[in-house]
Parts: sequence; structure tokens; C-alpha cells
Amino acid sequence: MSDRIIGPGDSPPQKYRVEAEPDPAALVAPTMREMSEPTDGIAPTPVWLLLFFFVLAGWSGYYIARNAGGFRADIYNEHYIAGAAPSLEKPAPADPLVLGRQTFNVCMQCHQDTGKGIPGTYPPLEGSPVVLGDPATPVRILLHGLQGDITIEGATYNGQMPSWDRFSDEQIAAVLTYVRQAWTNSAHPVDPALVAAIRKQTGERAQPWTWPELVIASKTPPPSATEPAEPKPAKP
Ligand code: HEC
Repeated sequence: MSDRIIGPGDSPPQKYRVEAEPDPAALVAPTMREMSEPTDGIAPTPVWLLLFFFVLAGWSGYYIARNAGGFRADIYNEHYIAGAAPSLEKPAPADPLVLGRQTFNVCMQCHQDTGKGIPGTYPPLEGSPVVLGDPATPVRILLHGLQGDITIEGATYNGQMPSWDRFSDEQIAAVLTYVRQAWTNSAHPVDPALVAAIRKQTGERAQPWTWPELVIASKTPPPSATEPAEPKPAKP
């Protein structure tokens, strides 16, 4: 027999000595009734929950099919004009500065949002004479890329500029127009026709440009951007 603390189920103290040990399970029974034992590990998703989600997805599909109005233009398009014939005119060309800003997202990782590049690694576009000069040169760079030494504003870079020939003529013209007018830059816009003409002229090229090659290329002007590339048939 030993001294011990008296539990709530015990009979009144008999000089603080009790014969039988109380059952410990009985002491924790009220707690056990309220909570299940916590277990370790990952429990499988209950089947009823999976079924519930299936039913929910099915019901959502049915609900959309019933109530979406067949996704009709007159319901969803606030500019819809009943009975208007579909426009045969070409859509208005995108604003080059908006398209250019969007396209510039791909240049930003190297030349930075500020256009200042990263000293020693990526040359700046702000204030660069290449950007601000004859637009044919940056168009060539964008179409085929650039490698080898190039000196911009007194610093020499020797990196790899990837080619962007997968961009459309409009996109290349737009991004260069943007770059030529962003930050403190101010040069006239680039015409998509110029990009088309240079793309045609340098189509054979497979290698990125080097700066000396670009200097030579700049002496052969591209076929005039305003005249069609193919000569018009002479009128009788
Ligand atoms: C992967 C990095 C990278 C990306 C992306 C990139 N460039 Fe470049 N760019 C360079 C490097 C490196 C050079 C210098 C190449 C050299 O050293 O020969 C360069 C050079 C240039 C130059 C000539 C040098 C100058 O500073 O004027 C122009 C113009 C240019 N890039 C424009 C662009 C435009 C526009 C885009 C987006 C369409 C673009 N670049 C995307 C890395 C990049």
C-alpha cells in the first residue's frame, strides 16, 4: 500500500488510504469518448469525398451547359450589334508601342526593364548608338542574333544575343520602335516593311552576326521598304 492522490471516482477519504488501485482506463474514458486517437502517416482520401467531387463536377458541367446561353455572342459580347454582318475589313493594326512593350518582356531578362543592361554582360539599349542609329542594323541583330566583341558606350561586351526570327515583322518592328522611344531614347518608329525586306535579303543566313559583319552589311541598304519587293509588271 502506498500514498497516492485520490481520484474523482474514489470513495471519501479513509484516512487517505485506499485499498484497490483505480482502473486508469476508466480515468481517461471521458477523453477517449470525445476524440479518436491521433495517428501518424497519410490517410487515404475517403471514398465518399471522391464521390462527392465527381458528383459536384458532373453537376457543374450540367449547370453550365444549361445556363451558359450557348456562349452566344449577343449574350457575352457587349459590343455585339444584332444583325451586323461580320466585318470584312482587316482589324486595325495593334498600337506598335503597346505590342512593343509586350514583346519587350523577352528582352528584359538580359537588357533589363530600365534598358540599361548589366554592365560587362548585357549591353544597354538606352542611349545605344546601335539602337538609335540606322534601324536596319538592330533589325538584322534581332533576326539572326549577335555574337563576338561589340563596344557600346565605351564598354566592350562579348556575349550571345539570341535570334528572334520567330517573331513576326510587326512584332520586331514594334519592339524596336518601343526600344527606340523608351526611357530617354527618342528615334523614329521602325516600319514592319523594313523588317520584311531585311528578312528576305538575309534569309540565307544561318549564323548570328558579328559586329564587323554588321558594319559591312550596313553598306548594302535593304531593298526600299516602301516599294514592293517584286517589281510590278509593266503596264501595256
Ligand atoms: C539572353 C539574353 C538576351 C536577350 C533575351 C536579348 N538580348 Fe540583346 N543582346 C544580348 C547580348 C549578350 C548582346 C551583346 C552581344 C555581343 O556581345 O556580341 C546583345 C546586344 C543587343 C543589341 C546591340 C547592342 C546594343 O546594346 O545596342 C541590341 C539592339 C539588342 N541586343 C536588342 C535586343 C532586343 C530588342 C531584345 C528582345 C527582343 C533582346 N536584345 C534580347 C543579350 C540578349
